[in-house]
Amino acid sequence: MEVNRILHMNKGDGKTSYSQNSQVQGKILSVAKPIIHEAVLEILSSNNIESMGIADLGCSSGPNTLLPISYIMNAIHAKRSSLGLQLSSSSTTEFRVYLNDLFSNDFNAIFMSLPAFYNNLKQEKGPEFESVFVSAVPGSFHGRLFPAKTLHFVHSSCSIHWLSRVPPALSNTPAEAAGTAMNKGKIYISKTSPECILDAYSLQFHEDFSSFLKSRAEEVVGGGRMVLSLIGRPSSDPTTRESCDQWELLAHALMTLVSEGLIEEGKVDAFNIPYYAPCAEELKLEVQKEGSFVMDRVEAFEIDRGCWWW
Ligand SMILES: C[S@@+](CC[C@H](N)C(=O)[O-])C[C@H]1O[C@@H](n2cnc3c(N)ncnc32)[C@H](O)[C@@H]1O
Repeated sequence: MEVNRILHMNKGDGKTSYSQNSQVQGKILSVAKPIIHEAVLEILSSNNIESMGIADLGCSSGPNTLLPISYIMNAIHAKRSSLGLQLSSSSTTEFRVYLNDLFSNDFNAIFMSLPAFYNNLKQEKGPEFESVFVSAVPGSFHGRLFPAKTLHFVHSSCSIHWLSRVPPALSNTPAEAAGTAMNKGKIYISKTSPECILDAYSLQFHEDFSSFLKSRAEEVVGGGRMVLSLIGRPSSDPTTRESCDQWELLAHALMTLVSEGLIEEGKVDAFNIPYYAPCAEELKLEVQKEGSFVMDRVEAFEIDRGCWWW
């Protein structure tokens, strides 16, 4: 199954929508706020920008979608105010904001929220912030999304732990899985997973993260910055409780449905989640190996159940 075509958060703003169930992701954004602020100031201090390109990758839809853009505009406004400058008299005159997600994301809901967003910007920060142009860019961040050298700032929150596909070594149809499933009764790495499953997931993440970095390296201008937050794990061992507990619980729930005859066992055996939570060392190594970016900092934050790495 093609992940890029089917993966999306629940649309709209009903009870089970992402919009109404993304408070934890909202908390993560607020932890990243000072880091975003700092990165924007660094861009402004080292570049003379007439048209600033800003991208949020894996934006989804709901109350979090425009938050990072507000944080960025706050940082720019604060900087301008501290210098006693009007935006119109500065070298930064317009902002190209690109919101990216996969094809079936609820972009319509985002568009509906734009008039209020534009109004708030103008009312809170003045008419200089009229030159903010938001557009949507559907597609996968594992490949190229933007023309070369057009972005100054790339942000992504809670998204790049999603893989481009289930590792091929684990992809089975329900019929194949019936006799041969390697990850029987599980949907991700678990305490009982054989080594080959750990390796397959790790390899897929490295492949995907490397493509992500290569693509951004083409798109980001010299002196540009990225702030990426994603789910990580605290230790190098991917089978610890903190690393795989949530998927163990879900697998357990699915196997309970199997035992009650509500779903077929082969379907659970054939299902594996296209997700990987790396440890900090893996991230650092991949950034070094790919070689296009220098990593300023990696920080871990624990939010409720789980660890989140920057
Ligand atoms: C948990 S949501 C996070 C949304 C938002 N950034 C937030 O903080 O609330 C993860 C988003 O990443 C998107 N995503 C996953 N893989 C992607 C890919 N390869 N390219 C673009 N977006 C992707 C999903 O569709 C989803 O909307």
